Amino acid sequence: MPIAYCKKNKTFHLYNEYTSYVMQVSEMNHLLHAYWGKRLFNKYVHFETLDYSNQTTAFKVLSNDTDPNYSLESIPQEYPSYGTGDNRSPAFHIEDSHGYCGSEIFYKKHRILAGKKEIKGLPSTYCEQEEEAQTVVITMEDPVLGLEVDLIYSIYEKYNAITRHVVFRNIGSQALILHKAMSCSVDYNDCDMQMISLKGSWARERDLQVSPLTHGIQSIESRRGASGSQLNPFYALTTDGDDEDHGSVYGFNLVYSGNFLGQVEVCMDDTARAMLGMGSFDFSWKLNPNDDFSTPEGVMVYSSEGLGAMSRSYHKLYRERLCRGEWRDRSRPVLFNNWEATYFDFDYERIINLAIEAQRSGADLFVLDDGWFGKRDSDKTGLGDWTENQQKLSGGLKKLGDSINKLGLKFGLWFEPEMVSPDSDLYRAHPDWCLHIPNRERKLGRYQLMLDFSRNDVCDHILEQLTHVISSAPIEYIKWDFNRNSSEVGSALLDKTRQKETLHRYYLGLYRVLDTLVKKFPQILFESCSGGGGRFDPGMLAYMPQTWASDNTDPVSRLRIQYGTSIVYPLSSTGAHVSASPNHITGRITDWATRTHVAFFGTFGYELDLAKESDEDKAAIPAQIERFKLLAPTIHQGDFYRIQSPFDYSKRAKGNEVSWICVNQDKTQAVALWVRILAIPNKGVQRLKLKGLNPQARYRIQGDDQTYGGDELMYMGLAMPTDLKGDFKSQLFVIDICT
Ligand code: DGJ
Repeated sequence: MPIAYCKKNKTFHLYNEYTSYVMQVSEMNHLLHAYWGKRLFNKYVHFETLDYSNQTTAFKVLSNDTDPNYSLESIPQEYPSYGTGDNRSPAFHIEDSHGYCGSEIFYKKHRILAGKKEIKGLPSTYCEQEEEAQTVVITMEDPVLGLEVDLIYSIYEKYNAITRHVVFRNIGSQALILHKAMSCSVDYNDCDMQMISLKGSWARERDLQVSPLTHGIQSIESRRGASGSQLNPFYALTTDGDDEDHGSVYGFNLVYSGNFLGQVEVCMDDTARAMLGMGSFDFSWKLNPNDDFSTPEGVMVYSSEGLGAMSRSYHKLYRERLCRGEWRDRSRPVLFNNWEATYFDFDYERIINLAIEAQRSGADLFVLDDGWFGKRDSDKTGLGDWTENQQKLSGGLKKLGDSINKLGLKFGLWFEPEMVSPDSDLYRAHPDWCLHIPNRERKLGRYQLMLDFSRNDVCDHILEQLTHVISSAPIEYIKWDFNRNSSEVGSALLDKTRQKETLHRYYLGLYRVLDTLVKKFPQILFESCSGGGGRFDPGMLAYMPQTWASDNTDPVSRLRIQYGTSIVYPLSSTGAHVSASPNHITGRITDWATRTHVAFFGTFGYELDLAKESDEDKAAIPAQIERFKLLAPTIHQGDFYRIQSPFDYSKRAKGNEVSWICVNQDKTQAVALWVRILAIPNKGVQRLKLKGLNPQARYRIQGDDQTYGGDELMYMGLAMPTDLKGDFKSQLFVIDICT
């Protein structure tokens, strides 16, 4: 069993074949952090006690008069509080009814349970069978506040992940106010590590950044009312920077789509405290007697073999135990989307013509993007009015969907349900249904406002509207967009003591809507989108198994975007399409092959007007789609290895050549991509050292008569072509085992 409790030493040991996590109840009943790292083979770990006896105590507050060394400021803790003399960042911050904020929590009891339970109102990873995981609920208590704090840890037997969340319960008689409630907190004995995170912006999502830990606090945060494209709710601490294959890596990722905070504090004694949870800026939550509050889930992955192994652990867990529903294990349809082909300028005829081209190419699904509803001829109007625009689409969605079905294609539709345009019937009828602050100007983002999803009536109305549309036409795919972030955060229904709950309530409302829809329409494939990848997070993936990675479809930009995304998220969740050249965002001219090769490493599709493409390029598409479908199981379900990084931080590559490889689970097939961004004259032969193959097996590369040992391909490497002329050139290698 993966959780062992030793009564004698009061230690908890969570373990599986990859990792061990150890906690100990101290003689003063604090819960101390003892260890997280490589698997320890002794089930009952014999920490006699955590050794804090030789620490300096000058300027430290002691917890215990009789023990001159017991200062919480120096002892690694599991869930530190504020007001105990530990002046490092607390994991939670709570106020009593008199305005006092001190808290100290003590071990009260624990339970070890089979499996893993859902978190009330929030998405989380799950088990299919109880035997897959174990959970320990450690109840801490602050007797002065009348507060119980459940620290809930689950560990899977076969997946390399430990999940954590916290439940606060008011068991006293006074109201309490939570100001901060992290999901994870880990104290490290040293700070000789680097912090890796994913930064960016619209059209430039998830660039990898690496920085050494320094004294003070380093943080990643969103205050935007969404996880955002600026920073992802993920970071890792590593001993070897972004080394793919070596060093210890401690990954933290939050299953949440709203504001978040991840921070690492390097403290005076060169220790480090790492935490991740929902954002505490402009947040509070009132807990009346008997109320409880659950934090979102944090997913922690330890790798002793570099960043690559950490990513593969996240990929497997998210593919198999975060994504859910019918589409989790099904091969994803190759789609055609009309957005970059038409923008708002379409009618029934134009869409049908695009669909005919899509059908000729061998695609599975045609997606009608923005502009089919209300008076939506530009991004200035119509959001909130989810009724088909009959003027634009004569015969409506039903006729269009049926015609597309007749072509042999599935039909998909775009929605942006969380938004309202001021110029809409919905807004005119319910001006208080958006997030707003009385007497303040309602600032527009993309000419629109965010609906107040903290309100049940708003959520119910949207559910009703969407249910009506979905039931009225043969819709089998939905793209769920979200094109602005928050400004005036306030809700007309909450009283003044609860205004700071608005954004978390918004996400509880959104998750309720999504949960209802995916259960009501299990056959529909949902794809999340936020102006591209502005909400690419595990919270959305729990409902929608794929996310549009970026509005930027330029393959050179996409190398960085897809490489960065792959640090945490599986390729089966990463939307990637072939689009026109010159690219609409970067203006870069690239060839058809490179655009196709890069888009292969995601949920593949096309987003362009084929009528404008050359006959030669058009004629090649059916074979490309067929090829992709043959390779999709290896790409979507295989193990992903990054080889050459597009970022400059790597010790090995300088970013001009980018490569990666997907290897299927039994190592009989692999698909590798190599891209050279700029042509450099007179370079020696470049050897691409593949990864993940069976070193003892022999492989054949499609299009090449020779056979190669897996060891040769990995250790000597495959010679890259020297006769490729021009910038932005790529090669795709399909590698099959010799039978
Ligand atoms: C932003 C998305 O990322 C695009 O793909 C497209 O759906 C537009 N919104 C439509 O407004």
